[in-house]
Amino acid sequence: MAILVTGGAGYIGSHTVVELQEAGYEVVVLDNLSNSSEKSLERVEAITGKKVKFYKADILDREALEDIFAKEDIDSCIHFAGLKAVGESVAKPWEYYNNNITGTLVLVDVMRQHGVKNIIFSSSATVYGSPAFVPITEECPKGQCTNPYGWTKSMLEQILTDLHVADPEWNIVLLRYFNPIGAHKSGTIGENPNGIPNNLMPYITQVAVGKRPELGVFGNDYDTHDGTGVRDYIHVVDLAKGHVKALSKIEEKAGLKLYNLGTGKGYSVLDIVNNFEAATGVKVPYSIKARRPGDIATCYSDASKAKEELGWVAENGIREMCEDSWRWQKNNPNGYDD
Ligand code: NAD
Ligand code: UD1
Repeated sequence: MAILVTGGAGYIGSHTVVELQEAGYEVVVLDNLSNSSEKSLERVEAITGKKVKFYKADILDREALEDIFAKEDIDSCIHFAGLKAVGESVAKPWEYYNNNITGTLVLVDVMRQHGVKNIIFSSSATVYGSPAFVPITEECPKGQCTNPYGWTKSMLEQILTDLHVADPEWNIVLLRYFNPIGAHKSGTIGENPNGIPNNLMPYITQVAVGKRPELGVFGNDYDTHDGTGVRDYIHVVDLAKGHVKALSKIEEKAGLKLYNLGTGKGYSVLDIVNNFEAATGVKVPYSIKARRPGDIATCYSDASKAKEELGWVAENGIREMCEDSWRWQKNNPNGYDD
């Protein structure tokens, strides 16, 4: 029995493949490599000492999926494959809805035709919109998303929920990630953004390594302790381990489940800059810029449900997150192109 990991060559997927293999699971990876490199999987193999079975395929390609499900003994799917750049999704809504939503519809249809009705889905704290309260529990109502990427997550949660209502044989775990940063301790796999990074930590590490002159801090007039935006940063290895724990709900045939995966702690942009400098000894010059449209002031989780029901807590603190992000960037200034 194997677990199909869609998007398994990507940032969170590759770290999850490591944790799955180390926990003894058989893994089959499917990825179209649109935002990743097969090198990540070679490095996963070097970390775990186990082969990764890989199919270069697209979730929109029904025939390719049919072929994989016919050949492999797949029991469950962890579904990471998707496009995730917020700004790009505003410019290319059709591409985002087609890839993320149509792709998932094709995937779950092929799954059910092969009698595989177990899926863990990568959702995001973005579905809370501007959250009704913080810390954000799973009871917090979903909100208005500010971009098509966010809507694909919100809509896919609804689609998967409706699938379970119509056919309770489906076991579905929706995981709402907060802000993943960090990298595997080996420094051999990590986040590999194309072009100018949109997210804070890859921008900071690129400034630190000398690829960019300074960080722009998007607004210092929010209602937070230092005026800059507050987020719940979570180490990607902790996030990956959360998926292994979530498999217990699939194994228990628990039906539809929903969890926040965060640390429960909020750090501002300047907290992150200061912690990064303290952890690495490298200066990060910055200047204050205008607010970024669509940003919210504060977003952090109440992580107690995952602790109680999955026995999962994030173990790495902000120092490890900064050290590990930096080790990856320093050793691989050009990501997998080095
Ligand atoms: P990533 O881009 O590194 O990984 C996604 C992978 O999916 C890539 O390897 C890409 O090549 C692949 N892919 C995309 N479309 C595909 C398709 N049609 N067929 C096959 N493969 C396809 O991103 P990530 O940061 O690892 O994110 C993984 C998942 O988690 C995504 O669904 C993302 O939206 C979600 N998520 C990410 C974050 C974050 O901050 N990184 C936060 C919340 C949710
Ligand atoms: C963003 C997305 C969210 C997505 C998440 C993970 C938006 C509005 N939200 O979340 O949908 O799920 O990434 O991919 O884009 N910052 C700077 N300077 C920078 C970059 C960021 O000051 O160069 C600040 C931001 O204003 C924010 C914080 O750093 O306060 C974190 O930003 P980021 O890493 O982009 O994550 P989110 O905005 O939380």
